[in-house]
Amino acid sequence: MTDGTIETSNLRVLGISGSMRSKSFNLGLLCAAKEIAPKGMTIDIFDIASIPLFDQDLEALGEPEPVAAFKGAICGSNALLIATPEYNYGMPGVLKNAIDWASRPPGKSALADVPVAIMGATPGTGGTARAQLQLRQTLAATRALVLVQQEIFVAGAMQKFDKEGRLVDEDTRKYIGKLLEALAGWTRRLSNGKS
Ligand code: FNR
Repeated sequence: MTDGTIETSNLRVLGISGSMRSKSFNLGLLCAAKEIAPKGMTIDIFDIASIPLFDQDLEALGEPEPVAAFKGAICGSNALLIATPEYNYGMPGVLKNAIDWASRPPGKSALADVPVAIMGATPGTGGTARAQLQLRQTLAATRALVLVQQEIFVAGAMQKFDKEGRLVDEDTRKYIGKLLEALAGWTRRLSNGKS
């Protein structure tokens, strides 16, 4: 996370999708967020696909390049926006794995004090609520500061995205806009508290 008070006109948000699927609904949520982002906010999407499986022996050899890139991207941003699918009532392993790397080494979590907003999409009816709860639990251990209000649970995704994976449901786009406004406010509030 960058230092100093956050200017409204210069808010850098890092988007992370927990899906590696090319036409992922969750990647689609992030792409929609890029289009909807309020004035002054830019959203860059980081692909976590190249992050290796966490292994303490591998870690002891030195930080793998994709991990260093991921942590660098977090540190160069003011906030995170995570879009998670739900796999078997939880977050996908690739997302948990990326978070585990970012939380290391002990006491030096790259996620500590970072404002985070969460959303998720599924073709099912639950809107990824169970995955999001699990994600919140994990992020608490990393000392990330997750936005409480403005939750986005996108159910019935088949009806809300077009064949190219673009979010076309106007209500969902509106909710994402509200989430981004809330994330901007949350980030400014945390920043001002520190200055
Ligand atoms: C799923 N899916 C799923 N959906 C859900 O709402 N609750 C669940 O528990 C599960 N479990 C689950 C397990 C596994 C292994 C897979 C592969 C899928 C369906 C999932 O929501 C669907 O594949 C989404 O399309 C995945 O998100 P992306 O890739 O579209 O972003």
